[in-house]
Amino acid sequence: MKHFKAIAAMSLNRVIGEGNKIPWHLPEDFQWFKKMTAGNVVVMGRKTFESLGKPLSKRINIVLTRHPGRLQKDFPELFADAWVARGKTRVAAPFQFELPRIGGVAATDLRLVKNFLNLSPADSPLDFFICGGAQIYEQLLPHCSDLYLTLVKREYEGDAFFPPFEDRFELVEEIVDTPEFKILHYRHRGLR
Ligand SMILES: NC(=O)c1ccc[n+]([C@@H]2O[C@H](COP(=O)([O-])OP(=O)(O)OC[C@H]3O[C@@H](n4cnc5c(N)ncnc54)[C@H](OP(=O)(O)O)[C@@H]3O)[C@@H](O)[C@H]2O)c1
Repeated sequence: MKHFKAIAAMSLNRVIGEGNKIPWHLPEDFQWFKKMTAGNVVVMGRKTFESLGKPLSKRINIVLTRHPGRLQKDFPELFADAWVARGKTRVAAPFQFELPRIGGVAATDLRLVKNFLNLSPADSPLDFFICGGAQIYEQLLPHCSDLYLTLVKREYEGDAFFPPFEDRFELVEEIVDTPEFKILHYRHRGLR
């Protein structure tokens, strides 16, 4: 069975964001994020999408929102062709929709993003990466088989925090260790 994967970066005091931005600039970590997610599906909350201002290139972007029509109104050129849950849907049945093209973007809700994953064949090369922010990690981390966590070796002021995960996940690999950050790979103890 296919599961989500999560990718995130947090500080020593669990900050992931401040004022709808990531409070550090670590180009090496950004390259890591790009390498891991390229060609795959990225799932993010509406606030994270707004902080980026555009879809991530070379990836299928799914934006979680309870108000898909609003996103379509705010970003008409981006979402004009996108499949939008409960808005102007192109298909009637929720089980018949298609993922947008690479570089494309869709707005949907939690239930339907789970359907996207469940309908994707077990041998599909596409990984579904949960990319934040705090609200989305909070809700979807329990459904992630793997967590790729960058631990930034400093404390930051912030208003968005990474949820507790240590009871559900075990550390399986330290992928990178630099003076500024580590990249850690955790696996969910109960999801394989
Ligand atoms: N360090 C990192 O790795 C990292 C990664 C990503 C983001 N961030 C940071 O995290 C912060 C943003 O996090 P956040 O928690 O404020 O916002 P968020 O999780 O990005 O987005 C929250 C929005 O997602 C939608 N949403 C939430 N639950 C939903 C559900 N069950 N169904 C449908 N839609 C749902 C809602 O959109 P509507 O209001 O439109 O309904 C909600 O307002 C920013 O500071 C950002 O820079 C950090």
